[in-house]
Amino acid sequence: MIAPGLRVPRTRGEEVRHGLLGSGLLRADLEILREGDYLVLPLTEGPADLPSAWGQRVEREFREVPRKGPERYRDLLGWPEAEKERLPRSFDVVGEIVLIRLAPELESRKSDVGEALLRFVPGARLVGLDRGVEGTDRLRRVERIAGEGPWRTRHRENGLELEVDVETAYFSPRLAREHARVADEVRSGESVYDLCCGVGPFSLTIARTGRPTRITAVDANPEAIALLRATMARYAFGERITPISTPIEQFLPEAAAVERVVLNLPLEGIKYLPSVARTAAPGGRLYYYEVVPRAELPGRGVTLVKSLAPVGAFAVVHERVVHPYSPSSDLVGFTLERSG
Ligand SMILES: C[S@@+](CC[C@H](N)C(=O)[O-])C[C@H]1O[C@@H](n2cnc3c(N)ncnc32)[C@H](O)[C@@H]1O
Repeated sequence: MIAPGLRVPRTRGEEVRHGLLGSGLLRADLEILREGDYLVLPLTEGPADLPSAWGQRVEREFREVPRKGPERYRDLLGWPEAEKERLPRSFDVVGEIVLIRLAPELESRKSDVGEALLRFVPGARLVGLDRGVEGTDRLRRVERIAGEGPWRTRHRENGLELEVDVETAYFSPRLAREHARVADEVRSGESVYDLCCGVGPFSLTIARTGRPTRITAVDANPEAIALLRATMARYAFGERITPISTPIEQFLPEAAAVERVVLNLPLEGIKYLPSVARTAAPGGRLYYYEVVPRAELPGRGVTLVKSLAPVGAFAVVHERVVHPYSPSSDLVGFTLERSG
């Protein structure tokens, strides 16, 4: 059957397959195609704007997968159909770790769910119950429900292997597309601030493009900066990044203006936005992320631009929903360009 697909070099096939699987974008009922040194991964009718760094979007004739194992982790549980339907369809895969959120009434059966995920996800070593992120450092509260070993792992995205520790520093595999989108825009010779960088996926993805850039990555959590340094040490292009372990309120007053600024602190970033916007040079771009109630999204870009008027003239040149955040809100990415 004809379906959309993503054409990726074979060397990156496993990494991209994992990313698509966790975000529900990979069609499990169709076979992966081989085309010389490339693979074509069958896609669900997901977003049309996958970043170019992930691969080339194409259409192909795919064959259906002969039915063998279950298509859903829920089918590995011997539960009645109605109970299985109450389980979440999606989960996150961070390296060898699977993270899932469960409704409180299902928590007494968390071990069954964990064992099912451990069997279902290729290469999974540990399954954690994800109780969300909290505090200034946005640390994830996780509870082991199946498997073994540490919470530290290496996560593959955008051709990188990132050092991640699910417990001690923020990381979300759902931002891979954003990391690649911003990296796609950065040009040779530009300077970049990656504010609230976490383990540094924006900085590393930009550095990996090979275009000469100077990147300053700032985070208040020293554990996050230590993980970024550990990843940088494995890549020659890591030298383009200067990691700084400090709150951005201390970094910003002395910061010179640069061409690109990323601010990814979605619940609290608004309080820093004016001082961050001051560091965007005229003609430069600010990539700002915010959790926005769905009903308020239509006017939000205009409100942001107005709030920045005392700093300079900004316009929203791109706005996108990155992923749902709660039943009534989304994580939204705004690209703001400064004209004066
Ligand atoms: C949502 S995470 C962003 C992670 C990263 N940008 C990414 O794409 O994976 C927010 C990060 O902001 C950091 N943070 C929170 N308040 C901060 C502040 N005032 N100054 C610097 N970093 C801060 C946290 O430690 C956390 O790593």
